[in-house]
Amino acid sequence: MKRILVVEDEGIVALDLYERLKRNGDLVVGTAKSAEEALDLVVQENVDFALMDIMIDGDLSGIDLAKILYEFFDIPVVFLSALNNDHVKTMAIESHAYGFIQKPFSSKELYTIIDYAAKKHEHDRMKPNPYLAQYNRMLKETKVLLAPFFEKNIETAEHSFRVMKVCKIMAAHLFLPELKSMQLDAAALLHDIGKGLIPEQILLKEQALDEVEWAIMQEHTLKGAHILSETHELMSLAQIVECHHEWWNGEGYPRGLKGEEIPILSRIIAIGDAWDVMTHSRVYSPVKSHEEAKRELIKNKGKQFDPALVELFLDIYPEIYKTQ
Ligand SMILES: [Fe+2]
Ligand SMILES: [Fe+2]
Repeated sequence: MKRILVVEDEGIVALDLYERLKRNGDLVVGTAKSAEEALDLVVQENVDFALMDIMIDGDLSGIDLAKILYEFFDIPVVFLSALNNDHVKTMAIESHAYGFIQKPFSSKELYTIIDYAAKKHEHDRMKPNPYLAQYNRMLKETKVLLAPFFEKNIETAEHSFRVMKVCKIMAAHLFLPELKSMQLDAAALLHDIGKGLIPEQILLKEQALDEVEWAIMQEHTLKGAHILSETHELMSLAQIVECHHEWWNGEGYPRGLKGEEIPILSRIIAIGDAWDVMTHSRVYSPVKSHEEAKRELIKNKGKQFDPALVELFLDIYPEIYKTQ
């Protein structure tokens, strides 16, 4: 039994597909009329396969949606369309579609193409991911660097893992390219690695830091970037780590970068980091409730944080809540 998502804006066609697929022993996990509805379903349900019309409701076309489903959710797509022109077929193929059925079609045709697509997808899955080796090397180096640091700073270790979890959820909704998502995992884990070079009397001080101590504390961004720049596998993360305390309005540190001058991965980490610091007890700040922390993010939207990313965080908060 395959779990199939149907994306079709005509109710009668969707119902007909539902009946035919049921007779083949497959399960329609949901019917969506637009890409937005389809993505909501994909996040909530296990979907093995998508059958979709090229012309759907909403801003994204079926072709755009197919690319997203395939590249970010590893869900193969078969198009159903009444349009029969070469341009549309070429676009469908470029979107990694596994098949194209011309409407009207027989049930036999439908079952055959679904079976073929499922087998092809299984076969494609066995192919090695081109980034996997790079990712594994990156994670191995990350662990080597972090092990001694985390052993001494268990609070920072727990904090870094929680920041990574939040960033991962945000990245999934941003449809980041695979390589960037992998870099984000490692950079989120490593973002405070520079604190390993900050004296403990400052790092663990329970009272507010004075001006000199604060300046030393801020150096963890540059120190972290320096550590990473010396490691071949992690060099590409140096700038991301360096910028995790930059502010959207330019008032952050260490360089006072502004808006999109700040790397997107640093802007994501900035939100994951602030969220975790606010909602978990740390030595230098009292813990806030989720509602208070959300208000704080909203207050600092466009000031400390990228406003679009704050909006995204608030939209997907129920998902983040489950991981806390
Ligand atoms: Fe930090
Ligand atoms: Fe942090």
